Amino acid sequence: MAALKLGDTAPNFLAKTTEGEFMFHEWLGEKWGVIFSHPADFTPVCTTELGMVSKLKDEFDKRNVKVIGLSVDDLESHNEWIKDINETQNTTMNFPMIADEDKYVANLYDMIHPNADDKLTVRSVFVIGPDKKIKLTLTYPASTGRDFYEILRAIDSLQLTTNYSVATPVNWKDGDDCIISNSINDEDAAKKFPRVSRQ
Ligand code: BEZ
Repeated sequence: MAALKLGDTAPNFLAKTTEGEFMFHEWLGEKWGVIFSHPADFTPVCTTELGMVSKLKDEFDKRNVKVIGLSVDDLESHNEWIKDINETQNTTMNFPMIADEDKYVANLYDMIHPNADDKLTVRSVFVIGPDKKIKLTLTYPASTGRDFYEILRAIDSLQLTTNYSVATPVNWKDGDDCIISNSINDEDAAKKFPRVSRQ
């Protein structure tokens, strides 16, 4: 199956998770979503990532984003691992993890990159809009843990640029100046963005 591209509809599937079974699209509802894979349960980098996402849950909630993890381990392993994450990362896991032993979802989202590892998922991230379209993808190798603050920052940009005809420059953070799209003429820009300043 061809790799998913920006603008494609995020595939729907029946998710078997640590918080029960549900259809992915129904679980997302009208919200934004992040689905991210990790290579394996009980591994040190993954443990820090899952702990961090749990600690950042309020930040995802503030942005109206639901988060879900995935690996090709089974539910029993996930549930055992959650105890370890909670203890070592000083948190209480608060989002579902998909148990994808048959690799159905991993294959659907092209999360297994055989030239890196033919059995385990890489560190994939898909940000999905309320229209169920893929807005952003990231792929990190197993040996490199992700920066979830960067993912939140990118979501801030995605949400801003979806609602207004603007783009965000290098290293932009929420509240910084952004760039008005070329497609808007000066007159309309002045009306839409009264505080605009010309650079
Ligand atoms: C880890 O999460 O620590 C890890 C997993 C797979 C390969 C390398 C590191």
